[in-house]
Amino acid sequence: MSLIEQIKANAAKAGKTIVLPEGTEKRTLLAVPQIAAANIANVILLGDEGAVKAAASDAGADISAAEIINPAKAAFYDDFVQAFFEMRKSKGVTLDQARDMMLDPLFFASMMVKMGKADGEVAGAENTTGNVLRPALQIIKTAPGMSAVSGAFVMIVPNSEYGHNGLLVFADCAVTPVPTAEQLAEFAQASASTAVSVCGIPDPKVGMLSFSTKGSASHELVDKVTKATALAKERFPELKVDGEFQADAALVPSVGSSKAPGSPVAGQCNVLVFPDLQAGNIGYKLVQRFAKAEALGPILQGLDKPVNDLSRGCSVDDVINVVAITAVKA
Ligand code: ACO
Repeated sequence: MSLIEQIKANAAKAGKTIVLPEGTEKRTLLAVPQIAAANIANVILLGDEGAVKAAASDAGADISAAEIINPAKAAFYDDFVQAFFEMRKSKGVTLDQARDMMLDPLFFASMMVKMGKADGEVAGAENTTGNVLRPALQIIKTAPGMSAVSGAFVMIVPNSEYGHNGLLVFADCAVTPVPTAEQLAEFAQASASTAVSVCGIPDPKVGMLSFSTKGSASHELVDKVTKATALAKERFPELKVDGEFQADAALVPSVGSSKAPGSPVAGQCNVLVFPDLQAGNIGYKLVQRFAKAEALGPILQGLDKPVNDLSRGCSVDDVINVVAITAVKA
């Protein structure tokens, strides 16, 4: 069974409810009958009921399995407005603004997850990453003990001896442009947790990446990764993590043992934490294209409840896969 089939099977056992705020988006609508047929999740589509049904009919999608909720007519709309106002008034949000913002499906969906009306949210087929993330960051916020959100990609590299038989987790590839050392340490822990919960990797080994291996270069950017590595070891003593590593020292056993002798993970890493978002985003796309790897994600990590982002270039299968990942994370 492939990894994604395994994730779908696990999602089916979990029986979670996922809200899809882009209720008139074609690929989202086409995904609904397949999600229902495979029992991956109960789906809630947001939008005006007539508009959602018309879009589904145009797309040729049977959405009878989905619940449709129009934020403006929802029984709990007023409660959501009040709760959002209380949550954000210290940030200058007025009651009138709260009313408007709760009509925005992306804000309403994050509030549904926050208030337990849904177990997770998937959006991004027609919205940018920033627009999907901002309501989640404002409403759902980070999990206890976490200060920043990161986005991991599960890389499935065909015919590769690296990582866990070609399976690796890369982060942060999607969210925090310039992480602090403390945040990089959190990403190490969160990514190891994704490796276990989503990929079934039993022994995550985390490499903290840089352009230096164990002091081979001196620079303040290297110092940040060294500090992040020390913080990760201190804060998460169970975590198998080391660095700073160049990518080859993290992945290739012979290079790891010569450049970082004695390291418990050098040359064996299956989780790679990149020093910033530019490196992470470029890195995953290069591996995806050159190695013809499958890249599942971004899987958002560090939020208190799961919200996941789709690429605007996503396929119907991508929507189904990300809904399954979100259900498993929930
Ligand atoms: N982690 C946790 N919380 C955060 C983070 C973070 N990384 N960034 C912002 N926040 C919080 C803020 O503290 C703030 O909380 P508050 O209002 O309660 O005080 C709230 O989120 C909103 O902050 P803003 O400053 O309004 O949000 P900002 O405009 O900085 O946007 C965002 C944050 C959306 C994450 C931004 O940093 C961003 O766009 N990141 C890059 C996303 C991207 O384009 N990725 C690449 C494409 S994805 C791909 O290729 C797969």
